[in-house]
Amino acid sequence: MTDSRQSIHGEWGSRWAFIMAATGSAVGLGNIWRFPYVVGENGGGAFILIYLACILLIGIPVMMAEILLGRLGRQSPINTLRTLPAEHGARGGWQILGWLGVIAGFLVLSFYSVVAGWSLAYVPFMATGTFTGAETAQVEAFFNDLLQDPWQLLLWHTVFMGLTALIVLRGVQNGLERAVRLLMPLLFLLLLVMVGYGMGAGAFLDAMAFMFTPDFSALGAEAVLIAMGQAFFSLSLGLGAIMAYGSYLSSRSSIPSNSGLIAASDTIIALLAGLAVFPIVLAAGLDPGSGPGLIFVTLSYGFGQMPLGALFGTLFFLLMSFAALTSAISLMEPATAYLVENRGWQRPRAAAIVATAAWLLGIGSLLAFNLWSGFTILGLNFQELVEYFSTSIMLPLGGLLMALFAGWVLPRSVTGQELALSSPGLYRAWLVLVRYLVPAAILIVFANSAGLIG
Ligand code: PFF
Repeated sequence: MTDSRQSIHGEWGSRWAFIMAATGSAVGLGNIWRFPYVVGENGGGAFILIYLACILLIGIPVMMAEILLGRLGRQSPINTLRTLPAEHGARGGWQILGWLGVIAGFLVLSFYSVVAGWSLAYVPFMATGTFTGAETAQVEAFFNDLLQDPWQLLLWHTVFMGLTALIVLRGVQNGLERAVRLLMPLLFLLLLVMVGYGMGAGAFLDAMAFMFTPDFSALGAEAVLIAMGQAFFSLSLGLGAIMAYGSYLSSRSSIPSNSGLIAASDTIIALLAGLAVFPIVLAAGLDPGSGPGLIFVTLSYGFGQMPLGALFGTLFFLLMSFAALTSAISLMEPATAYLVENRGWQRPRAAAIVATAAWLLGIGSLLAFNLWSGFTILGLNFQELVEYFSTSIMLPLGGLLMALFAGWVLPRSVTGQELALSSPGLYRAWLVLVRYLVPAAILIVFANSAGLIG
């Protein structure tokens, strides 16, 4: 393989730097906050089974395609999707896919920062022992009070977005890589502590049954769309974040094995989060389908009951905020890199503009929990609309187009060489997936949930 093109933004220091950054992007609120609550809302085991199938059959092949596009283009997604089609004799319309990703990135970042703000808010609450010995009703009331206070939400949303911008404008390599290396394993250990707590004090067997006994009658057409969207969201696919990271990847690094490793770590962390949350939910008689507040209520209650809970709880929300930060910076990367390339702006200016725009949009989401809660379209408030539209529609659509581009537009000689799979059979399997199965599956799920069939 030749390094025919270089990124103006630089290259990762090593293969591990890429894996840490991409895993940092993948592991975040999607695993710890969103996964348990969408599983709870969609009935448990059957949803998880579909989610796992989406990761394996759609997520991993699309991740390979997305990294590959990034590494071939070596520019921001918008410019990569202008250069590559031109080089391979395709029409120019593919650039829209780059823009779609930048817009999806704004939408996701806007509400992501609000929820990450809740996590930051819980750090001082935990540290001061707010939940020690508290009843479930008190813990629930506490969370609801937080949501009713727009100024407090604004404060934490601002702190989180500010931190994100600060890291992006300094460049990713300095400090962040080192911090990720220490903090991600720590988060993993703390999740294990919570799973251990659930085993001893919670309804662990009931939780296992809830998570791993599929009951397909609990599943609607909508649930499949949500599972697929969650797979894209959790793996950071479909909006160009992983493409941007792939553009800084050395051509010697193996795309398939990196993708497998990232997807496996991401999935394990999501399942652990479920195993930490559901034993407490079921033992305390809480509702698994209670929505976005699920982990804030259940885990806070759990920490309040266990020895050294204030300490563990403080650490947990600190680490979750950090995991959110490593994801948020990747959400800013496609737009920031684009502004640096096309406007010639310095990185700090580009990062500040992107963060400010997402911050403004995020205010709409935080008001949806209080002052604007009465304003709904199709039964969804502003935050739910932004989350649904970006996660369940735009990310799978982005993934669909990336799969089509990698499968049909790029010549086999190029994709074969880039992926460098160990056997021709594996390459053929990938090609069949991105050419036929992934597009068909995504279209069927879209059509089905739009009520066009079935
Ligand atoms: N994967 C992140 C999470 O699970 O929290 C969220 C995310 C990051 C989604 C980057 C999309 C993205 F491009």
